[in-house]
Amino acid sequence: MEIISSQYLISNPDFSQCPKPDRPEYAFIGRSNVGKSSLINMITNNKSLAKTSSAPGKTQLINHFEITSSPSPLHKAEKGGGKGVRWYIVDLPGYGYAKISQSSRRRWEQMIENYIRKRENLVCLFVLIDNRHEPQAIDIEFINQLGKWGVPFVLVFTKSDKNKPAATTRNVDSFLSVLAQTWEQPPPYFVTSAFNKAGRELLLDYIEKLNKGFNRL
Ligand code: GTP
Ligand code: MG
Repeated sequence: MEIISSQYLISNPDFSQCPKPDRPEYAFIGRSNVGKSSLINMITNNKSLAKTSSAPGKTQLINHFEITSSPSPLHKAEKGGGKGVRWYIVDLPGYGYAKISQSSRRRWEQMIENYIRKRENLVCLFVLIDNRHEPQAIDIEFINQLGKWGVPFVLVFTKSDKNKPAATTRNVDSFLSVLAQTWEQPPPYFVTSAFNKAGRELLLDYIEKLNKGFNRL
């Protein structure tokens, strides 16, 4: 799958104001500064799409981006099927940012919970984990909460360029072994780098497969 175009659409504080849920949607979430916005830019090959920053807490709202990707060869042959496939990417604010008040934190939790539980076209949540660290309680708790809510998700280990491959594997394994305490089956996962584009093809293939499932509904 090739990305034909990507553009910013709208930012909202509330899921009920989000665009019409008429196409598949993929949202990116994870600790503040984990690399959500950078990963979105890497996937779409568009450096200026989502705003990134070395200061945590940059993304504050539910940000929608409109993506058009090339149709699969199969799709192309169908009548009207040559136009490309349209879907949404959503950049969400990070969790675990220390310098916010209790009330802002609660507002964030409510906004995110509403969005991920009620957004009907949300096909998959990409939960980003910084690959440089040991498993963090805040990530594990968030993932366990997704399990209770029954929200489909996959893991994306970010910033793999900052580690040697052996350290990346070790950190992924240790994260999955903590999850194994609460999960029977490990979730699918990807290892990525926004700097050297590692993981891009696999992520796009995964989205393409899910897009096909959505369009069959
Ligand atoms: P918030 O919106 O504040 O929650 O942050 P975010 O998760 O969107 O992170 P963002 O993409 O803004 O990136 C945070 C910092 O990490 C920036 O300084 C990026 O340049 C850096 N960064 C992101 N991805 C990578 C990566 O794959 N490798 C390296 N080395 N640095 C990265
Ligand atoms: Mg961001």
